[in-house]
Amino acid sequence: MHSSIGKSKWELDTPALCVDLSTLEHNLKKIHTELRETNVGVRPHVKTHKSPAIAKLQIAAGAVGVCAGKLTESEVMLENGVNDVLMTGVNITATKIRRAMELRKKFTGFIQAVDNVKNAHDLQDAAKAAGIIADVVVDIDVIKRSGVLPGSPALALAQLVDKLPNLKFRGILAYDGIVQHHMGYAERKKTALRNFEPIVESYELMKRAGLNMEIFSGAGTGTYNMMGQIPGFTDVQAGSYLFMDAQYMEIGGVHNEKVMDDFTPSLTVMTTIINNNHPNRLITDSGTKAVSIDTPNAIVIGEPDFKYIANSDEYGIITFNESSRTYKVGDPLEVIVPHCDPVVNLYDVIYGIRNEKVETVFEVLGRGKSQ
Ligand SMILES: Cc1ncc(COP(=O)(O)O)c(C=O)c1O
Repeated sequence: MHSSIGKSKWELDTPALCVDLSTLEHNLKKIHTELRETNVGVRPHVKTHKSPAIAKLQIAAGAVGVCAGKLTESEVMLENGVNDVLMTGVNITATKIRRAMELRKKFTGFIQAVDNVKNAHDLQDAAKAAGIIADVVVDIDVIKRSGVLPGSPALALAQLVDKLPNLKFRGILAYDGIVQHHMGYAERKKTALRNFEPIVESYELMKRAGLNMEIFSGAGTGTYNMMGQIPGFTDVQAGSYLFMDAQYMEIGGVHNEKVMDDFTPSLTVMTTIINNNHPNRLITDSGTKAVSIDTPNAIVIGEPDFKYIANSDEYGIITFNESSRTYKVGDPLEVIVPHCDPVVNLYDVIYGIRNEKVETVFEVLGRGKSQ
């Protein structure tokens, strides 16, 4: 048993990454409740938590499988009992392609993405050499980041994958990463649906060509509830919904234009005040290496006027005009992080907290798995 079990979160040595279990459970269920009236499933992206144990909670809550960003992240999931993993990134180097095929040979639930013709041929050669038929989805470009261009290039690539004897075409993915953080639900929805028009057109082309369109995956926490009206769309790849963060809270949701309260922040960093020499200024032990440098700033729970700047490696700097109480050196504080994904990647474990006490410890086995 982990030595921290039963400890108060206020007594954890800091910085410590914590998740409130009741809130996590609420978010786990909530995404399915919100999508109940649609035909859209959930294939959560594990890049957010990098923990096979948490991925299993998502599957138990009704997810159709999970997405992983990288090959090593996919390996960690599959080797630790998460059976259905769709890797949203591509494998380009010979080493990665070989490893991807080894992974597919061991785990039939591994699906990989392709976004160019040469890579499709490389995957075919490697699958043949490994003696397998590898499951592949075609990634279609929405934000000029990854993906084959929509329309006829996407159709041609899908048809090529479908034709190659050692590849099995399973469908498409398209992720609109930019629109996720657009402010205001109505504006975001308008842009998301407009950005998706070429993807829908590509989907229709493939469907008319008789291709297997069993997977049509995309979207994130900012657009998870907008995809019900996309023809053929099968599942949302939301990740941050589970933890939430300051970036997502400020975008506004369908129920509240000012704060996205579809989901509740569950992830926090416990930090300690290590210096209070100057008036209206507190220094903590949690800087860039503990809460990351993203904007907006981390939010100090219970202190709305605190401005938390984490741009020193080892120090957090809080400035304020008003505080609810006087703080001493050694006092703990709890903060909601700016952006959950990069923060999780800084920790070996996430403490699972219930009623302020450590109930379980999630190992972040995917930490640093960026290859
Ligand atoms: C391809 C892909 N799908 C899904 C997600 C999950 O998005 P979010 O954490 O915003 O829900 C991401 C996040 O960056 C992503 O890159």
